[in-house]
Amino acid sequence: MSKSVTFIASPGGSLSGDIRVPGDKSISHRSIMFGSLADGTTRVHGFLDGEDCLATLNAFRAMGVEIEGPDNGEVVIHGVGIDGLKQPANTLDMGNSGTSMRLMTGLLSGQSFDTTLVGDGSLMSRPMRRVTDPVQSMGATLSTAKAGTAPIDISGGVALKAIEYELPVASAQVKSCVLLAGLYAQGKTCVTEPAPTRDHTERMLRGFGYAVDNPSAGVVCLQGGGRLTATEIDVPADISSAAFFMVGASIAEGSDITLQHVGMNPTRTGVIDILRLMGADISVTKEQEVGGEPVADIRVRSAQLKGIRIPEELVPLAIDEFPAIFVAAACASGETTLTGAEELRVKESDRIAVMADGLKILGVDAEPTADGIVIQGGSGFGSGAVESHDDHRIAMSFAMASLRASGDVRINNCANVDTSFPDFVGLANKAGLSIEIN
Ligand code: S3P
Repeated sequence: MSKSVTFIASPGGSLSGDIRVPGDKSISHRSIMFGSLADGTTRVHGFLDGEDCLATLNAFRAMGVEIEGPDNGEVVIHGVGIDGLKQPANTLDMGNSGTSMRLMTGLLSGQSFDTTLVGDGSLMSRPMRRVTDPVQSMGATLSTAKAGTAPIDISGGVALKAIEYELPVASAQVKSCVLLAGLYAQGKTCVTEPAPTRDHTERMLRGFGYAVDNPSAGVVCLQGGGRLTATEIDVPADISSAAFFMVGASIAEGSDITLQHVGMNPTRTGVIDILRLMGADISVTKEQEVGGEPVADIRVRSAQLKGIRIPEELVPLAIDEFPAIFVAAACASGETTLTGAEELRVKESDRIAVMADGLKILGVDAEPTADGIVIQGGSGFGSGAVESHDDHRIAMSFAMASLRASGDVRINNCANVDTSFPDFVGLANKAGLSIEIN
C-alpha cells in the first residue's frame, strides 16, 4: 500500500445509537457482474463504495460496460448482454480483492478475448489454483505464476464444457467461479460443497431470471447458454461490517446499539450464533425479505461473555468475522478454542498468526494452532502497537479492542479499511469509539 495510515484508538467508552454500516461487499460485487452481463439496465441501491467493489466496477468499465455512479450508493449499469463484453486495453487490476479475482477467473474463461488479472501484494500471494484447476477441467486455457498465484492469464475463444465439481474447500468464491464459467459452458454445471457457504451468487442469478437448481442438499446446478434480465437490487448493510460493532457493544460495558437493515442470509449469520453461544445479548427485529435476501435490525447490549469451543460447522458461516470474534474471546471468561479454520491462513493476511501476534502484544494469552487458535479470556487488553498487515478486518477488530484496553491501541497500516468499510472511523467515533487517524 502506498498510503500509510495509523489508527490510534483511545481506551474505554461504550457503543450506542442506531447506525447503518455500508453495503454488503459480496452482494455489491455480484450486482456489478450480473448487471453488466444482463440485457437491459440494472439499478443498484446501497452499493458498497469500497475499493474492492470499485475494482470489480472498473474492470467492467474497462470491458466496455457503461456504469453510472456510485453516487450515494446508487449505481446504474447498462448491461451489454451475456456475450457483450469487449477486450480491455490493459491487465485488469483487482487490487486487494480476492472475490473479484476468483469470480472473474470463471467469468472471463468464457469470453472471446484474452485477459490478465493482477492485484496488490497480498492478492498476488493468495492461492488461485483452487479456481484455475476447475475451470481448466472445463476446457479453459489459463496460467498462473509457478506458485499458483496471480497474474492469471486467461485465453479467450475457448469452448467450455460443463462439469460436476466437488469443492475441496468450503469456498463460496470457488463455487461462484465455477458457476460463472458454467454460464458459458455447454451442458449443466453442478457444484457440490462440503459445507454450506454463502449463496449470494445463486440468489442473485435467480433474481436476474437465470434458473439455478438444488437437486439435493449441498448441490447447485445451472445450465449454460442462458441469458440474464436486468433487475433492481437493494444491497443490505454488510453483516461482516456490522460484526465489529456487535463485538464492540458486547464487550464494552453500558453499550446498547442497533445496527440497521443488516443482511441476514443464513449462510452469513454464524457470527450471531457464535456470539450468542458466548452469552451475547443480541436481539433481531424488523425481519423482512428485500430483493431475495433476508434483512433485519440487530440490537446488541453489553454482556459478560464466556469462552466456548466454537462449533466447526459454524466456521464457513462466520469465515470473515473471526478476527472480531477473537477480540470477543479475549474479553470472555475462560478459554475459547477454534478448530477447522485453516482457511483463515490464506485470507487478506494469515489471520490466525496476525491476530495471535496482536493479541499477545496487548497482553492476551493466544496460542495459534495449524487450523485455529486457543485464547485465554480475561479482563481485556493492555495497550501497545499492533500490525494489521494491510488487512482491513484485522485493523477494525483491534480498533474494537480499545473499548476494553488500559491504554492507547495503535494499529499500523490501516489504509485497506477502505476496501470494505469507507469511513469506518467516522461511524465508529459516532457510535462511541475514540479513534484518531495518523
Ligand atoms: C466471499 C467468500 C468468502 C469470503 C470473502 C467473500 C464471496 O471467501 O471470505 O470475503 O463474496 O464469495 P471463501 O468463500 O473463499 O471463503
